[in-house]
Amino acid sequence: MTDVLAVANQKGGVAKTTTVHSLGVASAELGRRTLVVDLDPQACLTFSLGFDPEGLEQSLHDVFVRRAGVAEVALPVPGVEGLDVLPATIDLAGSEVHLLTRTGREHVLARALEPVLDRYDLILIDCPPSLGVLTINGLTAARSVLIPLQCEALSHRGVGQLLETIEDVRAFANSELTVRGVIATMYDDRTKHSRHIFEEVHARYGIPVLQPPVRKSIRFAEAPARGKSILQHAPQSPGAEAYRALAAVLMDPSPTAGPVTPTAGPVTPTAVAPAAAGVTRPPVASVPAQPGVVAGTAG
Ligand SMILES: Nc1ncnc2c1ncn2[C@@H]1O[C@H](COP(=O)(O)OP(=O)(O)OP(=O)(O)O)[C@@H](O)[C@H]1O
Ligand SMILES: [Mg+2]
Repeated sequence: MTDVLAVANQKGGVAKTTTVHSLGVASAELGRRTLVVDLDPQACLTFSLGFDPEGLEQSLHDVFVRRAGVAEVALPVPGVEGLDVLPATIDLAGSEVHLLTRTGREHVLARALEPVLDRYDLILIDCPPSLGVLTINGLTAARSVLIPLQCEALSHRGVGQLLETIEDVRAFANSELTVRGVIATMYDDRTKHSRHIFEEVHARYGIPVLQPPVRKSIRFAEAPARGKSILQHAPQSPGAEAYRALAAVLMDPSPTAGPVTPTAGPVTPTAVAPAAAGVTRPPVASVPAQPGVVAGTAG
C-alpha cells in the first residue's frame, strides 16, 4: 500500500521543504518509487529540485482546477532515479481562491492522487506554512503527518494549534489520519534547551520524536541553490546520514500515534525547563514503541 505522508507545520522555516526533499531522495535511494508534492505557492521544493517554477507549463494548480491529471503534470527529477515531483508555481496561490468556492474542497488533492497511487510506494507532501485550504488538502490526502520542529525557544508553540487542525481533518475529512511523529530539525545538542523542547513536546502532546535528530549544518543552506538535496551535495555529511536513517525508519508503514488531543494551552518558555528538569514521563499509552522512535528524547 502506498504510504502518503504530509509534512506540515504552520510555522515558517522549520525545514518542511528540506525534509520532503531529503526524505524523497533518501527513499528513492532505498529503491522506493517516490513522488514529492509541492503544495506551497512559494515553489521552494520545485526550485530546490532543479526546476525553474516560472518556466513550467503545468503545475499542481492545473490539477486543482481540473485542467490536467497528476500523471500529466508530474515530472521525473533529473539525477534521482525513482523520484518524481508534482511541481508548484505561483499559480497555486490562485488555487486557494478557486478551492474556497468548491464543494468538497478539502478532498481535491486526495481524489487527484488516487489514479497514481499504484505507481508509487511513498508520496511526500510539502505543506505551506499555514493551516489554510492547501494544507487541509495535504492532510486529507495523507495517511499520516510528520511534524518538523526546529529546536529553538517557542518553536513548539504552534503544535497545539496544528494538532487541533489535524483533529478537525480526522473528524470531517480523513478519519484514518494519524500523527507519525516529530522530526527534530536544526538540532544542536550542545544546548540542553534543544533536548528539553522535545521532552516537553512529547510530555505535553504524546507525540513521538523520531530518531535520529537532524543537526544544524551550513551544508543544508548550500544545497538548494545547486538544485540538489543534501544527500547529493554532501552525501557523507551527518545531515545526509540522518535523513537516510529517518527514511529507513519511515519504511515501516505502521502509524505511530492514533488520535492526538492537545491536553494543554500554549507552552511558555518557562514551562519547558521545570518539566524537563523533573523528567516528566510522557503519556505513552497510545504510542506503541517501534524501532527508530525514542519517546521524549532527541539525542
Ligand atoms: N538541519 C539544518 N541545518 C541548517 N539549516 C537548515 C537545516 N534544515 C533546513 N535548513 C535551512 O533552513 C531554511 C528553511 O528551511 P525550509 O525551506 O526547508 O523550511 P520550511 O519549513 O519549508 O519553510 P517555509 O515555512 O517557508 O516553507 C533553509 O534555508 C534551509 O536550507
Ligand atoms: Mg517550505
